[in-house]
Amino acid sequence: MRFDGKVAVVTGAGNGLGRSHALLLAARGARVLVNDLGGGAFGGGESTQAADRVVAEIRDAGGEAVANYASVEDGARIVEAALDAFGRIDIVINNAGILRDVSFAKMSREDWDLVLRVHLEGSFRVTHAAWPHLREQGGGRVIMTTSAAGLYGNFGQANYSAAKMGILGLAQTLAHEGRKSNIHVNTIAPIAGSRLTETILARELVDALRPEYVSALVAYLCHDECKESGALFEVGGGFFARVRWERAAGKVFRLGREITPEAVAGAWEAVNDFSEPERVSHPRDLAGAMAPIMRNIQAGPSRGGNRFIDVDEALGYEFPESTFEYDERDVALYALGVGAAADPTGERRGELHFVYETHSDGFWVLPTFGVIPGLDVMLKMARAGESAPGCNYGLERLLHGEQSTEVRRPLPPRARLTTRTKIVEIYDKGENALVITETRSFDERGEELIVNRFTAVIRGAGGWGGE
Ligand code: NAI
Repeated sequence: MRFDGKVAVVTGAGNGLGRSHALLLAARGARVLVNDLGGGAFGGGESTQAADRVVAEIRDAGGEAVANYASVEDGARIVEAALDAFGRIDIVINNAGILRDVSFAKMSREDWDLVLRVHLEGSFRVTHAAWPHLREQGGGRVIMTTSAAGLYGNFGQANYSAAKMGILGLAQTLAHEGRKSNIHVNTIAPIAGSRLTETILARELVDALRPEYVSALVAYLCHDECKESGALFEVGGGFFARVRWERAAGKVFRLGREITPEAVAGAWEAVNDFSEPERVSHPRDLAGAMAPIMRNIQAGPSRGGNRFIDVDEALGYEFPESTFEYDERDVALYALGVGAAADPTGERRGELHFVYETHSDGFWVLPTFGVIPGLDVMLKMARAGESAPGCNYGLERLLHGEQSTEVRRPLPPRARLTTRTKIVEIYDKGENALVITETRSFDERGEELIVNRFTAVIRGAGGWGGE
Protein backbone atom coordinates (compact mmCIF):
# COMPACT_ATOMS: atom_id res chain seq x y z
CA MET A 1 0.00 0.00 0.00
CA ARG A 2 1.42 3.33 -1.11
CA PHE A 3 0.45 6.90 -0.25
CA ASP A 4 2.17 8.69 -3.14
CA GLY A 5 0.58 12.05 -3.81
CA LYS A 6 -1.20 12.08 -0.44
CA VAL A 7 -0.65 14.65 2.30
CA ALA A 8 -1.01 13.60 5.91
CA VAL A 9 -1.25 15.73 9.04
CA VAL A 10 -0.18 13.86 12.14
CA THR A 11 -0.64 15.70 15.42
CA GLY A 12 1.64 14.99 18.34
CA ALA A 13 3.99 13.28 15.90
CA GLY A 14 7.16 14.16 17.78
CA ASN A 15 7.03 11.09 19.98
CA GLY A 16 5.45 7.72 20.55
CA LEU A 17 2.55 6.69 18.38
CA GLY A 18 2.35 9.87 16.32
CA ARG A 19 6.00 9.61 15.35
CA SER A 20 5.51 6.01 14.33
CA HIS A 21 2.42 6.83 12.20
CA ALA A 22 4.32 9.68 10.51
CA LEU A 23 7.37 7.53 9.75
CA LEU A 24 5.28 4.75 8.24
CA LEU A 25 3.16 7.01 6.04
CA ALA A 26 6.26 8.91 4.86
CA ALA A 27 8.10 5.67 4.11
CA ARG A 28 5.14 4.72 1.89
CA GLY A 29 5.24 7.95 -0.10
CA ALA A 30 3.01 10.38 1.81
CA ARG A 31 4.11 13.94 2.41
CA VAL A 32 3.72 14.50 6.13
CA LEU A 33 3.12 17.52 8.28
CA VAL A 34 4.76 16.54 11.56
CA ASN A 35 2.97 18.52 14.23
CA ASP A 36 4.16 18.59 17.81
CA LEU A 37 4.05 21.20 20.51
CA GLY A 38 7.14 19.64 22.04
CA GLY A 39 5.88 19.90 25.60
CA GLY A 40 6.05 17.49 28.51
CA ALA A 41 3.83 14.48 29.00
CA PHE A 42 1.70 16.43 31.50
CA GLY A 43 1.07 19.42 29.31
CA GLY A 44 3.84 21.81 30.38
CA GLY A 45 6.40 23.59 28.16
CA GLU A 46 6.98 23.56 24.45
CA SER A 47 9.89 23.16 22.02
CA THR A 48 10.60 22.62 18.37
CA GLN A 49 12.86 19.65 18.98
CA ALA A 50 10.36 16.81 18.97
CA ALA A 51 8.86 17.67 15.58
CA ASP A 52 12.22 18.61 14.07
CA ARG A 53 13.76 15.29 15.08
CA VAL A 54 11.04 13.30 13.36
CA VAL A 55 11.17 15.47 10.25
CA ALA A 56 14.92 14.84 10.11
CA GLU A 57 14.34 11.10 10.47
CA ILE A 58 11.86 11.12 7.58
CA ARG A 59 14.12 13.19 5.35
CA ASP A 60 17.14 11.02 6.14
CA ALA A 61 15.14 8.03 4.95
CA GLY A 62 14.34 9.86 1.69
CA GLY A 63 10.82 10.99 2.62
CA GLU A 64 9.14 14.38 2.57
CA ALA A 65 8.03 16.14 5.75
CA VAL A 66 7.60 19.56 7.29
CA ALA A 67 7.57 20.42 10.99
CA ASN A 68 4.89 22.40 12.76
CA TYR A 69 4.97 23.41 16.42
CA ALA A 70 1.45 24.69 17.02
CA SER A 71 -0.77 23.30 19.71
CA VAL A 72 -3.73 21.29 18.44
CA GLU A 73 -5.83 23.90 20.20
CA ASP A 74 -4.87 26.09 17.22
CA GLY A 75 -6.02 23.50 14.74
CA ALA A 76 -6.44 25.99 11.92
CA ARG A 77 -2.75 26.90 12.01
CA ILE A 78 -1.76 23.27 11.65
CA VAL A 79 -4.00 22.75 8.64
CA GLU A 80 -2.81 26.01 7.07
CA ALA A 81 0.78 24.88 7.49
CA ALA A 82 0.02 21.66 5.62
CA LEU A 83 -1.72 23.56 2.82
CA ASP A 84 1.13 26.07 2.60
CA ALA A 85 3.73 23.33 2.40
CA PHE A 86 1.96 20.80 0.19
CA GLY A 87 -1.14 22.47 -1.29
CA ARG A 88 -3.63 19.83 -0.12
CA ILE A 89 -4.60 17.58 2.74
CA ASP A 90 -5.84 13.99 2.51
CA ILE A 91 -5.24 12.40 5.87
CA VAL A 92 -5.72 13.76 9.39
CA ILE A 93 -4.45 11.75 12.32
CA ASN A 94 -5.57 13.21 15.64
CA ASN A 95 -3.04 11.79 18.01
CA ALA A 96 -1.62 14.54 20.24
CA GLY A 97 -2.22 13.94 23.90
CA ILE A 98 -1.21 14.53 27.47
CA LEU A 99 -2.13 13.10 30.84
CA ARG A 100 -3.11 14.75 34.10
CA ASP A 101 -3.90 11.69 36.17
CA VAL A 102 -5.33 12.36 39.58
CA SER A 103 -8.24 10.91 41.52
CA PHE A 104 -11.52 12.66 40.90
CA ALA A 105 -11.70 13.91 44.48
CA LYS A 106 -8.40 15.72 44.02
CA MET A 107 -8.86 16.78 40.40
CA SER A 108 -8.55 20.52 39.88
CA ARG A 109 -10.52 22.49 37.37
CA GLU A 110 -7.26 23.01 35.48
CA ASP A 111 -6.52 19.27 35.30
CA TRP A 112 -9.94 18.79 33.77
CA ASP A 113 -9.85 21.72 31.36
CA LEU A 114 -6.36 21.11 30.05
CA VAL A 115 -6.95 17.45 29.23
CA LEU A 116 -10.28 18.20 27.54
CA ARG A 117 -8.71 21.06 25.59
CA VAL A 118 -5.83 19.05 24.20
CA HIS A 119 -7.69 15.84 23.42
CA LEU A 120 -11.28 16.74 22.63
CA GLU A 121 -11.03 20.38 21.65
CA GLY A 122 -7.76 19.67 19.79
CA SER A 123 -9.29 16.83 17.76
CA PHE A 124 -12.25 19.05 16.97
CA ARG A 125 -10.21 22.06 15.93
CA VAL A 126 -7.78 20.25 13.66
CA THR A 127 -10.52 18.17 12.02
CA HIS A 128 -12.87 21.13 11.71
CA ALA A 129 -10.19 23.16 9.91
CA ALA A 130 -9.38 20.28 7.56
CA TRP A 131 -13.01 19.28 6.89
CA PRO A 132 -13.87 21.79 4.11
CA HIS A 133 -10.69 20.87 2.25
CA LEU A 134 -11.43 17.16 2.46
CA ARG A 135 -14.94 17.81 1.17
CA GLU A 136 -13.77 19.99 -1.69
CA GLN A 137 -11.24 17.38 -2.71
CA GLY A 138 -13.92 14.72 -2.78
CA GLY A 139 -12.73 12.71 0.18
CA GLY A 140 -10.23 11.99 2.89
CA ARG A 141 -9.35 9.93 5.93
CA VAL A 142 -9.60 10.96 9.54
CA ILE A 143 -8.27 8.96 12.46
CA MET A 144 -9.29 9.69 16.04
CA THR A 145 -7.40 8.34 19.02
CA THR A 146 -9.43 7.23 22.00
CA SER A 147 -8.33 4.95 24.81
CA ALA A 148 -9.35 1.87 26.76
CA ALA A 149 -9.42 4.22 29.77
CA GLY A 150 -12.34 5.98 28.09
CA LEU A 151 -14.09 2.84 26.93
CA TYR A 152 -13.87 1.05 30.24
CA GLY A 153 -12.94 3.74 32.77
CA ASN A 154 -9.74 3.83 34.77
CA PHE A 155 -8.94 5.03 38.23
CA GLY A 156 -7.45 8.52 38.27
CA GLN A 157 -8.39 9.32 34.66
CA ALA A 158 -11.82 10.96 34.87
CA ASN A 159 -10.68 13.91 32.74
CA TYR A 160 -8.88 11.74 30.21
CA SER A 161 -11.72 9.17 29.98
CA ALA A 162 -14.29 11.90 29.42
CA ALA A 163 -12.18 13.53 26.72
CA LYS A 164 -11.50 10.20 25.01
CA MET A 165 -15.16 9.24 24.91
CA GLY A 166 -15.96 12.71 23.64
CA ILE A 167 -13.58 12.01 20.78
CA LEU A 168 -15.36 8.75 20.00
CA GLY A 169 -18.71 10.53 19.89
CA LEU A 170 -17.25 13.16 17.60
CA ALA A 171 -15.91 10.45 15.30
CA GLN A 172 -19.21 8.57 15.14
CA THR A 173 -21.09 11.66 13.98
CA LEU A 174 -18.37 12.72 11.55
CA ALA A 175 -18.50 9.25 10.00
CA HIS A 176 -22.18 9.86 9.23
CA GLU A 177 -21.67 13.43 8.06
CA GLY A 178 -18.62 12.54 5.98
CA ARG A 179 -20.19 9.61 4.16
CA LYS A 180 -21.61 11.70 1.31
CA SER A 181 -18.25 13.37 0.74
CA ASN A 182 -16.24 10.15 0.86
CA ILE A 183 -14.63 11.15 4.14
CA HIS A 184 -13.93 8.09 6.25
CA VAL A 185 -13.59 8.54 10.00
CA ASN A 186 -12.34 5.75 12.23
CA THR A 187 -11.16 5.57 15.82
CA ILE A 188 -8.41 3.59 17.47
CA ALA A 189 -7.95 2.72 21.13
CA PRO A 190 -4.23 1.94 21.06
CA ILE A 191 -1.81 0.56 23.56
CA ALA A 192 1.89 1.20 23.12
CA GLY A 193 5.02 1.80 25.10
CA SER A 194 5.58 5.55 25.16
CA ARG A 195 6.40 8.28 27.61
CA LEU A 196 2.70 8.34 28.52
CA THR A 197 2.73 4.69 29.52
CA GLU A 198 6.27 4.27 30.83
CA THR A 199 5.24 5.56 34.24
CA ILE A 200 2.47 2.96 34.59
CA LEU A 201 3.69 -0.09 32.63
CA ALA A 202 6.62 -2.34 33.48
CA ARG A 203 9.77 -1.75 31.41
CA GLU A 204 9.43 -5.08 29.54
CA LEU A 205 5.91 -4.15 28.52
CA VAL A 206 6.90 -0.69 27.37
CA ASP A 207 9.61 -2.32 25.22
CA ALA A 208 7.33 -5.04 23.91
CA LEU A 209 4.37 -2.82 22.98
CA ARG A 210 5.94 -1.11 20.02
CA PRO A 211 4.04 1.81 18.45
CA GLU A 212 4.75 0.34 14.98
CA TYR A 213 2.18 -2.38 15.61
CA VAL A 214 -0.50 0.28 16.02
CA SER A 215 0.64 2.28 12.99
CA ALA A 216 0.06 -0.67 10.65
CA LEU A 217 -3.69 -0.42 11.33
CA VAL A 218 -3.68 3.37 11.15
CA ALA A 219 -2.00 3.26 7.74
CA TYR A 220 -4.49 0.71 6.44
CA LEU A 221 -7.45 2.80 7.67
CA CYS A 222 -5.91 5.81 5.89
CA HIS A 223 -5.51 3.97 2.60
CA ASP A 224 -8.05 4.32 -0.21
CA GLU A 225 -8.34 0.54 -0.29
CA CYS A 226 -9.97 0.47 3.15
CA LYS A 227 -13.67 1.29 2.98
CA GLU A 228 -14.35 1.19 6.71
CA SER A 229 -15.87 4.22 8.41
CA GLY A 230 -17.38 4.82 11.83
CA ALA A 231 -15.48 1.87 13.26
CA LEU A 232 -13.56 1.55 16.49
CA PHE A 233 -10.58 -0.74 16.98
CA GLU A 234 -8.52 -1.83 19.92
CA VAL A 235 -4.98 -2.24 18.74
CA GLY A 236 -1.56 -2.87 20.19
CA GLY A 237 0.96 -5.54 21.09
CA GLY A 238 0.06 -7.48 17.94
CA PHE A 239 -3.69 -7.51 18.69
CA PHE A 240 -6.19 -5.98 16.27
CA ALA A 241 -9.90 -6.10 17.01
CA ARG A 242 -12.98 -4.13 16.22
CA VAL A 243 -15.08 -3.01 19.15
CA ARG A 244 -18.83 -2.39 18.87
CA TRP A 245 -21.82 -1.73 21.05
CA GLU A 246 -23.73 -4.74 22.17
CA ARG A 247 -27.27 -4.41 23.46
CA ALA A 248 -28.94 -7.01 25.62
CA ALA A 249 -32.14 -8.79 24.57
CA GLY A 250 -33.88 -6.36 26.88
CA LYS A 251 -37.40 -6.13 28.21
CA VAL A 252 -40.23 -4.33 26.47
CA PHE A 253 -43.17 -3.05 28.49
CA ARG A 254 -46.09 -2.19 26.28
CA LEU A 255 -47.08 1.42 26.65
CA GLY A 256 -50.19 2.79 28.29
CA ARG A 257 -49.94 0.92 31.56
CA GLU A 258 -48.01 1.82 34.61
CA ILE A 259 -44.37 0.72 34.61
CA THR A 260 -43.31 0.48 38.20
CA PRO A 261 -39.80 0.25 39.70
CA GLU A 262 -40.84 -3.21 40.89
CA ALA A 263 -41.66 -4.24 37.33
CA VAL A 264 -38.23 -3.04 36.20
CA ALA A 265 -36.56 -4.93 39.04
CA GLY A 266 -38.61 -8.00 38.11
CA ALA A 267 -37.38 -7.78 34.52
CA TRP A 268 -33.75 -7.37 35.54
CA GLU A 269 -32.67 -10.65 34.02
CA ALA A 270 -34.05 -9.74 30.57
CA VAL A 271 -32.69 -6.21 30.78
CA ASN A 272 -29.23 -7.72 31.30
CA ASP A 273 -29.56 -10.77 29.09
CA PHE A 274 -26.74 -11.21 26.58
CA SER A 275 -27.04 -14.99 26.44
CA GLU A 276 -29.00 -15.48 23.21
CA PRO A 277 -27.02 -14.31 20.19
CA GLU A 278 -30.12 -13.87 18.03
CA ARG A 279 -31.77 -11.56 20.58
CA VAL A 280 -28.68 -9.48 21.27
CA SER A 281 -28.22 -6.56 18.89
CA HIS A 282 -25.40 -4.33 17.71
CA PRO A 283 -26.91 -1.02 16.67
CA ARG A 284 -24.77 0.99 14.29
CA ASP A 285 -26.87 4.10 14.01
CA LEU A 286 -29.78 5.91 15.61
CA ALA A 287 -32.33 4.04 13.51
CA GLY A 288 -30.87 0.76 14.78
CA ALA A 289 -30.92 2.08 18.32
CA MET A 290 -34.55 3.16 18.01
CA ALA A 291 -35.80 -0.03 16.34
CA PRO A 292 -37.23 -1.78 19.43
CA ILE A 293 -38.80 1.45 20.64
CA MET A 294 -40.51 2.04 17.30
CA ARG A 295 -41.73 -1.54 17.25
CA ASN A 296 -43.21 -1.06 20.72
CA ILE A 297 -44.98 2.12 19.68
CA GLN A 298 -46.34 0.42 16.57
CA ALA A 299 -47.54 -2.51 18.67
CA GLY A 300 -50.06 -0.14 20.21
CA PRO A 301 -51.22 0.23 23.78
CA SER A 302 -50.88 -2.41 26.43
CA ARG A 303 -53.61 -5.00 26.82
CA GLY A 304 -53.08 -5.07 30.54
CA GLY A 305 -52.71 -7.84 33.02
CA ASN A 306 -51.85 -8.47 36.61
CA ARG A 307 -49.43 -10.54 38.64
CA PHE A 308 -50.87 -13.79 37.27
CA ILE A 309 -51.20 -12.93 33.62
CA ASP A 310 -49.39 -10.37 31.54
CA VAL A 311 -51.56 -10.21 28.42
CA ASP A 312 -48.94 -8.32 26.39
CA GLU A 313 -46.42 -11.05 26.95
CA ALA A 314 -48.65 -14.08 26.86
CA LEU A 315 -51.10 -13.32 24.06
CA GLY A 316 -49.74 -14.53 20.75
CA TYR A 317 -46.87 -16.38 22.39
CA GLU A 318 -45.70 -19.29 20.27
CA PHE A 319 -44.27 -22.25 22.12
CA PRO A 320 -41.21 -24.01 20.72
CA GLU A 321 -42.24 -26.51 18.06
CA SER A 322 -42.65 -30.00 19.45
CA THR A 323 -42.76 -33.47 17.91
CA PHE A 324 -44.95 -36.37 18.88
CA GLU A 325 -44.60 -39.89 17.57
CA TYR A 326 -47.17 -42.62 18.01
CA ASP A 327 -47.87 -46.07 16.59
CA GLU A 328 -50.50 -48.83 16.68
CA ARG A 329 -49.66 -49.71 20.25
CA ASP A 330 -50.40 -46.19 21.54
CA VAL A 331 -53.58 -46.02 19.51
CA ALA A 332 -54.81 -49.40 20.78
CA LEU A 333 -53.96 -48.53 24.39
CA TYR A 334 -55.80 -45.24 24.07
CA ALA A 335 -58.88 -47.02 22.73
CA LEU A 336 -58.72 -49.58 25.51
CA GLY A 337 -58.29 -46.77 28.01
CA VAL A 338 -61.54 -45.11 26.98
CA GLY A 339 -63.35 -48.46 27.05
CA ALA A 340 -63.38 -49.59 23.43
CA ALA A 341 -64.19 -53.29 22.99
CA ALA A 342 -64.62 -53.62 26.76
CA ASP A 343 -66.74 -56.63 26.01
CA PRO A 344 -64.83 -58.21 23.09
CA THR A 345 -66.91 -61.35 22.63
CA GLY A 346 -70.26 -59.79 23.42
CA GLU A 347 -72.21 -56.76 22.40
CA ARG A 348 -69.21 -54.55 21.81
CA ARG A 349 -67.21 -56.92 19.62
CA GLY A 350 -67.90 -54.47 16.78
CA GLU A 351 -65.28 -52.17 18.40
CA LEU A 352 -62.41 -54.62 17.98
CA HIS A 353 -61.05 -52.71 14.98
CA PHE A 354 -60.09 -49.91 17.45
CA VAL A 355 -57.86 -52.16 19.50
CA TYR A 356 -56.61 -54.90 17.14
CA GLU A 357 -54.12 -53.73 14.56
CA THR A 358 -54.51 -56.66 12.16
CA HIS A 359 -58.31 -56.68 12.25
CA SER A 360 -59.89 -57.83 8.98
CA ASP A 361 -61.90 -54.54 8.75
CA GLY A 362 -58.68 -52.57 9.10
CA PHE A 363 -57.35 -50.75 12.12
CA TRP A 364 -59.28 -47.62 13.10
CA VAL A 365 -58.03 -44.74 15.17
CA LEU A 366 -60.55 -43.11 17.49
CA PRO A 367 -60.79 -39.45 16.39
CA THR A 368 -60.53 -38.26 19.99
CA PHE A 369 -56.99 -39.64 20.00
CA GLY A 370 -56.30 -36.30 18.30
CA VAL A 371 -56.36 -34.59 21.69
CA ILE A 372 -53.18 -36.39 22.73
CA PRO A 373 -50.55 -34.63 20.57
CA GLY A 374 -51.88 -31.25 21.76
CA LEU A 375 -51.90 -32.17 25.42
CA ASP A 376 -48.42 -33.62 25.07
CA VAL A 377 -46.93 -30.16 24.47
CA MET A 378 -48.45 -28.74 27.63
CA LEU A 379 -47.71 -31.73 29.77
CA LYS A 380 -44.08 -31.68 28.67
CA MET A 381 -43.84 -28.04 29.71
CA ALA A 382 -45.62 -28.64 32.99
CA ARG A 383 -43.27 -31.52 33.76
CA ALA A 384 -40.27 -29.35 32.97
CA GLY A 385 -41.69 -26.68 35.30
CA GLU A 386 -41.88 -24.21 32.39
CA SER A 387 -44.66 -21.88 31.40
CA ALA A 388 -45.30 -19.38 28.65
CA PRO A 389 -43.98 -15.89 29.33
CA GLY A 390 -46.58 -13.76 31.04
CA CYS A 391 -48.37 -16.83 32.46
CA ASN A 392 -47.29 -16.54 36.04
CA TYR A 393 -49.62 -19.03 37.64
CA GLY A 394 -49.21 -22.61 38.75
CA LEU A 395 -51.22 -25.65 37.76
CA GLU A 396 -53.07 -25.38 41.09
CA ARG A 397 -55.01 -22.42 39.65
CA LEU A 398 -55.76 -24.11 36.36
CA LEU A 399 -59.05 -25.74 35.57
CA HIS A 400 -59.57 -27.35 32.15
CA GLY A 401 -62.55 -25.45 30.77
CA GLU A 402 -63.61 -25.93 27.21
CA GLN A 403 -61.97 -28.22 24.71
CA SER A 404 -62.30 -28.59 20.97
CA THR A 405 -60.51 -31.07 18.80
CA GLU A 406 -60.78 -30.90 15.05
CA VAL A 407 -59.49 -33.85 13.06
CA ARG A 408 -59.07 -32.94 9.39
CA ARG A 409 -59.02 -36.49 8.06
CA PRO A 410 -58.95 -40.01 9.55
CA LEU A 411 -55.87 -40.34 11.71
CA PRO A 412 -53.22 -42.76 10.46
CA PRO A 413 -52.37 -45.68 12.79
CA ARG A 414 -48.81 -44.37 13.17
CA ALA A 415 -47.27 -40.96 12.56
CA ARG A 416 -44.62 -38.50 13.51
CA LEU A 417 -46.37 -35.18 14.12
CA THR A 418 -45.01 -31.72 14.49
CA THR A 419 -47.09 -29.49 16.73
CA ARG A 420 -47.16 -25.71 16.75
CA THR A 421 -48.70 -24.18 19.84
CA LYS A 422 -49.84 -20.63 20.40
CA ILE A 423 -51.80 -18.69 23.00
CA VAL A 424 -54.59 -17.30 20.84
CA GLU A 425 -57.00 -15.63 23.23
CA ILE A 426 -57.05 -14.31 26.77
CA TYR A 427 -60.16 -13.05 28.51
CA ASP A 428 -60.74 -11.28 31.77
CA LYS A 429 -63.87 -12.88 33.21
CA GLY A 430 -63.89 -10.71 36.31
CA GLU A 431 -62.88 -13.09 39.05
CA ASN A 432 -61.19 -15.60 36.79
CA ALA A 433 -59.32 -15.47 33.52
CA LEU A 434 -59.47 -17.63 30.41
CA VAL A 435 -56.34 -18.55 28.52
CA ILE A 436 -57.01 -20.25 25.21
CA THR A 437 -54.24 -22.22 23.63
CA GLU A 438 -54.32 -23.62 20.14
CA THR A 439 -52.17 -26.48 18.91
CA ARG A 440 -51.83 -27.41 15.26
CA SER A 441 -50.33 -30.77 14.45
CA PHE A 442 -48.85 -31.56 11.05
CA ASP A 443 -47.90 -34.90 9.56
CA GLU A 444 -44.56 -35.81 7.96
CA ARG A 445 -45.60 -34.16 4.68
CA GLY A 446 -46.52 -30.93 6.44
CA GLU A 447 -50.25 -31.46 6.05
CA GLU A 448 -52.39 -30.17 8.90
CA LEU A 449 -54.01 -33.09 10.66
CA ILE A 450 -55.37 -31.93 14.02
CA VAL A 451 -56.30 -28.61 15.59
CA ASN A 452 -56.89 -28.47 19.33
CA ARG A 453 -58.12 -25.56 21.38
CA PHE A 454 -57.84 -25.72 25.13
CA THR A 455 -59.51 -23.23 27.37
CA ALA A 456 -57.84 -22.99 30.73
CA VAL A 457 -59.80 -21.28 33.48
CA ILE A 458 -57.27 -19.57 35.71
CA ARG A 459 -58.97 -19.17 39.03
CA GLY A 460 -58.67 -15.81 40.76
CA ALA A 461 -56.53 -14.40 37.95
CA GLY A 462 -59.00 -12.02 36.30
CA GLY A 463 -60.04 -8.50 37.13
CA TRP A 464 -57.56 -6.33 35.23
CA GLY A 465 -60.32 -4.66 33.29
CA GLY A 466 -59.53 -6.44 30.05
CA GLU A 467 -61.68 -7.70 27.23
P1 NAI B 1 3.45 10.60 23.67
O1 NAI B 1 3.50 11.49 24.85
O2 NAI B 1 4.62 9.74 23.39
O3 NAI B 1 3.14 11.47 22.40
C1 NAI B 1 2.17 12.45 22.41
C2 NAI B 1 2.71 13.64 21.67
O4 NAI B 1 1.72 14.65 21.63
C3 NAI B 1 3.90 14.26 22.38
O5 NAI B 1 4.99 14.34 21.49
C4 NAI B 1 3.41 15.63 22.79
O6 NAI B 1 4.42 16.65 22.72
C5 NAI B 1 2.34 15.90 21.78
N1 NAI B 1 1.40 16.88 22.27
C6 NAI B 1 0.88 16.99 23.51
N2 NAI B 1 0.06 18.03 23.58
C7 NAI B 1 0.05 18.61 22.36
C8 NAI B 1 -0.63 19.72 21.80
N3 NAI B 1 -1.44 20.46 22.56
N4 NAI B 1 -0.43 20.00 20.52
C9 NAI B 1 0.40 19.27 19.75
N5 NAI B 1 1.08 18.20 20.24
C10 NAI B 1 0.91 17.89 21.52
O7 NAI B 1 2.12 9.73 23.82
P2 NAI B 1 1.59 8.45 23.04
O8 NAI B 1 1.53 7.33 23.99
O9 NAI B 1 2.28 8.27 21.76
O10 NAI B 1 0.09 8.87 22.80
C11 NAI B 1 -0.44 9.24 21.56
C12 NAI B 1 -1.95 9.22 21.64
O11 NAI B 1 -2.39 7.91 21.90
C13 NAI B 1 -2.53 10.09 22.73
O12 NAI B 1 -3.72 10.69 22.28
C14 NAI B 1 -2.84 9.13 23.83
O13 NAI B 1 -3.85 9.58 24.69
C15 NAI B 1 -3.26 7.93 23.03
N6 NAI B 1 -3.17 6.66 23.74
C16 NAI B 1 -1.96 6.10 24.00
C17 NAI B 1 -1.89 4.91 24.68
C18 NAI B 1 -0.61 4.23 24.91
O14 NAI B 1 -0.65 3.09 25.39
N7 NAI B 1 0.50 4.82 24.60
C19 NAI B 1 -3.09 4.27 25.22
C20 NAI B 1 -4.32 4.90 24.83
C21 NAI B 1 -4.32 6.08 24.13
